[in-house]
Amino acid sequence: MDMTPERWTYLTRYLREVFAREDESLAGIMPRAVKAGLPDIAVSPESGRFLEFMASMAGRDGPAKLALEFGTLAGYSGVWIARGMASDGKLISIEASTTHVAQATETFRLCGLAERVSVRQGRILEVLPKIAQEIGKASVDMVFIDALKSEYPQYVEAVLPLVRSGGVILIDNALASRWTMDLPPGKDADRDTVDALNRKLGADPRLIACCVPIGNGVAMVRKR
Ligand SMILES: C[S@@+](CC[C@H](N)C(=O)[O-])C[C@H]1O[C@@H](n2cnc3c(N)ncnc32)[C@H](O)[C@@H]1O
Repeated sequence: MDMTPERWTYLTRYLREVFAREDESLAGIMPRAVKAGLPDIAVSPESGRFLEFMASMAGRDGPAKLALEFGTLAGYSGVWIARGMASDGKLISIEASTTHVAQATETFRLCGLAERVSVRQGRILEVLPKIAQEIGKASVDMVFIDALKSEYPQYVEAVLPLVRSGGVILIDNALASRWTMDLPPGKDADRDTVDALNRKLGADPRLIACCVPIGNGVAMVRKR
């Protein structure tokens, strides 16, 4: 299939309409957040549905029981993930901004997920060691990374020991953000960091890696 810009736009709309319809709860999250002054930078609905789908099969024998999210914003991606998880599952989502934490906490309450999602305020690389002590090594079924692109390589190395064998890490913006991957190297530092990380993950013998071109591109690795 040749991919023209028009065809890409059509197919994206099609994916959204057919596979990623938002219910009222999901549809209300980002308009409410934007009204409160948060940036409109949540994942797309089709990426959200993909996260839900992955969470529904990332556990040892079915849905994920323990998941981590790096970068909560207003809780939009977190709601998709939590909905895919086991009914007794737990999502721990880390967010640096206190404003975003407050907004996300309200989102999870409104979506009936307050008991199942724990939002932790702080910078990921500072908060993660404390969470690691709490949950232990090789305990996590699924991780979703969507925070500071320049720190992505450190997030992956820091979280890998916490992921169980067979667990998955999903990384947003694997193909685009304010940049796209077809930009020549040397023009955007974040693009170059993500490019280097993608290449490293693709060749890492500890992992099986691939990438889906949904939304801004979601790279996925499964720990062997
Ligand atoms: C793209 S948004 C996350 C969007 C969210 N995953 C969604 O789709 O609904 C990135 C979030 O990461 C947060 N963030 C950026 N750097 C961070 C860090 N070092 N530690 C924790 N949170 C961080 C930002 O405040 C922002 O809320």
